Amino acid sequence: MKSHHVHDYCTETTFDQGHSHRMYGATGYEIPFGNSHVHSYYGVTTVNNAHIHHYSGITGPAIPLAEGGHTHEYQGPTTVDLGHRHYFKSLTSAERYSRFL
Ligand SMILES: [Fe+2]
Ligand SMILES: [Fe+2]
Repeated sequence: MKSHHVHDYCTETTFDQGHSHRMYGATGYEIPFGNSHVHSYYGVTTVNNAHIHHYSGITGPAIPLAEGGHTHEYQGPTTVDLGHRHYFKSLTSAERYSRFL
């Protein structure tokens, strides 16, 4: 049986309008992309200044890690809420395999 993987991510958005938000979660399974693969992700930021933002996107292709495994870059804007949005850009954790996925 083919095993699939996901990546955990955790980062902080840009600081705008006097605050930032944290965002964390796990991506979806791998999606074939050329000779590599990408992952989709979506979620909701932490509550800061009494509001949240939504975000969603597709990661970049796999980037090999020196210690083995791979990571993916993910970046984008959050939704506009209360008249502002934030941006984020980071790398996911290495791949995670689990029979509970
Ligand atoms: Fe905000
Ligand atoms: Fe991956």
